[in-house]
Amino acid sequence: MTLQPRTAVGTPQSRVDGRLKVTGQARYAADHPTDGVLYAAVVDSSVGRGRVTSVDDSAARAHPGVLRVISHLNAPRLPYVDNPGSNNPAPNSRLRVFQDDRVRFFGQPVAVVVATTHEAAQQGARLVKVSYAAEQPVTDLATAPADEPTTYARGDADRALAAAPVRLDLTYRTARNHHNPMEPHATIARWDGDRLTVWDKTQWVVGGTQQELAAVFGIPQTSIRVISPFVGGAFGSGLRAWPHTTIAALAARETGRPVKLVLARRQLYFGTGFRPAYSYRLRAGSDRTGRLTAMTHEIRSETSRYETFTEAVLAPGQMLYSMPNVRQAYSTVPLDVNTPIWMRGPGYASAALVIESAMDELAHQLGIDPIELRKRNEPAADESSGQPFSTRRLRECYDVGAREFGWRRRTPKPASTRDGDWLIGTGMAAAVYDTARAPAQAHVRLNADGTALVQSATSDMGLGTYTSMPQVAADALGLTMDTVEFRLGDSLMPPTPPHGGSMTMASVGSAVQDGCDKVRRQAITLAVNDPRSPLRGINPDDIIVRKGRMHAKNDPTRGETYRQVLARNGRDHLEVIGSWAPPEQNRFSMYGYGAVFAEVAVDARLGLVRLRRMLGVYDAGRIVNPKLADSQALGGMVGGIGAALLEHTVTDPRDGRIVNANLADYLVPVNADIRDLRAIYLDGEDREADPLGVKGLAELVLVGVAPAIANAVFHATGRRIREFPITADALL
Ligand code: MOS
Repeated sequence: MTLQPRTAVGTPQSRVDGRLKVTGQARYAADHPTDGVLYAAVVDSSVGRGRVTSVDDSAARAHPGVLRVISHLNAPRLPYVDNPGSNNPAPNSRLRVFQDDRVRFFGQPVAVVVATTHEAAQQGARLVKVSYAAEQPVTDLATAPADEPTTYARGDADRALAAAPVRLDLTYRTARNHHNPMEPHATIARWDGDRLTVWDKTQWVVGGTQQELAAVFGIPQTSIRVISPFVGGAFGSGLRAWPHTTIAALAARETGRPVKLVLARRQLYFGTGFRPAYSYRLRAGSDRTGRLTAMTHEIRSETSRYETFTEAVLAPGQMLYSMPNVRQAYSTVPLDVNTPIWMRGPGYASAALVIESAMDELAHQLGIDPIELRKRNEPAADESSGQPFSTRRLRECYDVGAREFGWRRRTPKPASTRDGDWLIGTGMAAAVYDTARAPAQAHVRLNADGTALVQSATSDMGLGTYTSMPQVAADALGLTMDTVEFRLGDSLMPPTPPHGGSMTMASVGSAVQDGCDKVRRQAITLAVNDPRSPLRGINPDDIIVRKGRMHAKNDPTRGETYRQVLARNGRDHLEVIGSWAPPEQNRFSMYGYGAVFAEVAVDARLGLVRLRRMLGVYDAGRIVNPKLADSQALGGMVGGIGAALLEHTVTDPRDGRIVNANLADYLVPVNADIRDLRAIYLDGEDREADPLGVKGLAELVLVGVAPAIANAVFHATGRRIREFPITADALL
């Protein structure tokens, strides 16, 4: 196919949906107006483990406006059939809503109150008296028994460690983190006979919500429509369906009315997932020049007792640095908690926090510059698979970053720079994230008026899908941005992978480009075969389209518009389903890379850490929209600042209660915590990854942030803190 000129891709377009969002016109899940809607409020268990012995709903049912109270005592049995191909757990290993009396974690839904107003439902939920036979929950990752580990080995790491002239043996602990999106999770469910329509906050209308409800109710997926045009942030919390979505649908079926269920902020902490806490022991060995000989990784992370959650925490230890000997063991530890889920930079962020902190320790111990140490351990190929890298420009990230950050001015000695009461330090870390792609489709329609409509069942949780897809479509169709509309978030649209794992641009973008290429070709074919067209008889490959006008590549005067050729041929529109799928087997190792630099000031008397500036340099392939890329990169840094210094979900071991389930006590970075953040993208593309040449950015930009800050804290203070977040008390 002809390569169209790129005029929209690569330009800093503003969000096309920005005005809708800032003027309150964007409709999020709970905003959809629904006639006759009822309101639901969930009653959460107030014990961390045990059994429900009674549910007294008499006071609740007597409350004005309350219509129904549903618990395991009166809920219908739900089929919970298998649902392959989704992010949701298999039926034999999952929580089943209101199907038994067991309490598996503090906050588990034990009943729902349905009422004519939100307030009545909330008050009704307070009036339900639930009695329990409580048991002692187990919530301590450090002491609870673990599942059988997932293992990996190459060489003989233990022998190589024993023989290494330089050795480290370090244990790190990372806190549980919660996504805390601005928009709370919410669902509106409406049954029309056997057909179910839901408006849901989700990152995957098809594989998340639609498949879950089909599995729970044992009905065909085609009987369920899921609508989700706007998502107010998710960071992974919408990658699978949670109990409240089932509860809304169940309550709607039981009452015969549409039901709206919005989780309270507090309920997000146990009603959706979280980034699991880790305990991670890393041993490393090197020679005296800093060449790594071995690493062992002993990793424990929390999961629930009723579902097993794992993430890609092993990959960085296998491929980020060159070394002959690696041994890894990754164990999940089942606790009396709700199930974790991926959170921005999943797995990689947790592994990089450990590995990149340890690399800094090794550099210090050897007296080698941290960048130089990393360069000495750059692999020539992916040592986990033997595959060549599609693109790996990590050295360039280091060099550009060092230059732009002013790394040369750094005095290596820790605690050597002061600014009044503040100790000043700089640190850096590498970032890496898998370039994921998956099959996707998009419907493309070119209208007789020369405008185009592109639709795909993907999502935009704030990353800019609404804007980036029209950029791709505009170029491939030869239209201007303002004549292309993109719609998403409806399970009736062509299917896509989850809006996660940084794969939307690569996967959906490539499907959009494919569909637009095909429709453009249809129009060109119509013209060259039309005796009345000035383009008649020209080779279609020699025709390009600009601003809706097809013309000969070598003779711009010879041409006509889409409108003209469609009108003359009596065509109302041209349309096609575009699709793209990655090859079944990768021949290349594909990752995005980055180098993150941080400068911190630590109050010498109070232990307060302030980030002064941060720079990230990224090898992420083609950047479709530099403005939205900055929005992602800076947002990723903010998340990493949180993980390094602030974010920590705290559980009370006595009863499994989350004690800081609110935004006053769960600290996230605010404007005062965020100073000078800057991102640079290496110019280029990855031709092996996908037709657009993108490698994905959203996850990558969180990875490496926390260790860069931790390394800067060490440089400022001479203190190594291996428990995250690094709080003031740890530095006193
Ligand atoms: Mo991202 S953790 O896949 O939303």
